[in-house]
Amino acid sequence: MTKFAYFNRQIVPIEDAKISIMTHTFNYGTGCFGGIRGYWNPERKKLYVFRIQDHYRRFLDSARLLRAELDYTVQELADITIELLTKEGWREDCYIRPIAYKADTVIGVRAHGLQDAVAIFSVPMGDYLKPGGVHAGVSSWRRVDDNAIPARGKIIGSYANSALAKSDALLNGFDEAIVLNQDGHVSEGSAANFMMVRDGVLITPPITANVLEGITRRTLLHLARTELGLEVQERPIDRSEIYLADEALFCGTGVQVTPITAIDHHPLGDGKPGPITTRLHDRYMDIVRGRVEEYAGWVTEVG
Ligand SMILES: Cc1ncc(COP(=O)(O)O)c(C=O)c1O
Repeated sequence: MTKFAYFNRQIVPIEDAKISIMTHTFNYGTGCFGGIRGYWNPERKKLYVFRIQDHYRRFLDSARLLRAELDYTVQELADITIELLTKEGWREDCYIRPIAYKADTVIGVRAHGLQDAVAIFSVPMGDYLKPGGVHAGVSSWRRVDDNAIPARGKIIGSYANSALAKSDALLNGFDEAIVLNQDGHVSEGSAANFMMVRDGVLITPPITANVLEGITRRTLLHLARTELGLEVQERPIDRSEIYLADEALFCGTGVQVTPITAIDHHPLGDGKPGPITTRLHDRYMDIVRGRVEEYAGWVTEVG
């Protein structure tokens, strides 16, 4: 159970971290958020937070897109988070949720000239999707276009789009959605980036395909290029191409590296997690848990 939150510039008991129903962001979705994972390393009995600076860099970028005026630096937000986690004392994997919101209690939709605030809390979190492989369905909802709500920002309002896609996928018997962008090319999952392997080439939509600039995506592309020696293509992906993929995966802080074993009832490869997906998954999980010295710079120790 979560005990603390960062709220009104201090760490307070979680039950004191409350906002009014009149809060601007609650009414209009005019905030942004982050999703960061902390991993418990049982050998060292330490919690490691993965790429915290990169997450807060994107968080502040998302806030700027919303014309928020936040007087926090990346390092200040990282330090507050580590202090919060130290106090919270998780001895298991957890998920950290920073939110930047417009705290004014006024009616009137706009982005500028409002009071901006930051809140942070954390919760324990295990797997977000079935780790052994998921069945994905192409959604009839299109990904919110960058010209409607900035797609590269993690903007609260745009998650109504994700929620509709995810619910339809689940209600239609799939585990997760693959969402196309306005021009009909593959964009991403409801809360994860998409990658596929065809003839040994790792292919993922470019960041101009209305995808979130995922930190896990960036991590896997780095590992694929530098460690697996794979050819990587960031290019538009047609819908019909994904049915012919040898392997596919969702990647994101929440879903980590989740193999996709079928799409719209087309089994991929032999219908089991493929070898490249498995290698990326295993390496990623070792890195995030602070087990790879070479990538010590990507993890921040708590306490
Ligand atoms: C829409 C969307 N795409 C992609 C991702 C993956 O981003 P990251 O790897 O930075 O967590 C997320 C969040 O996890 C997301 O919400």
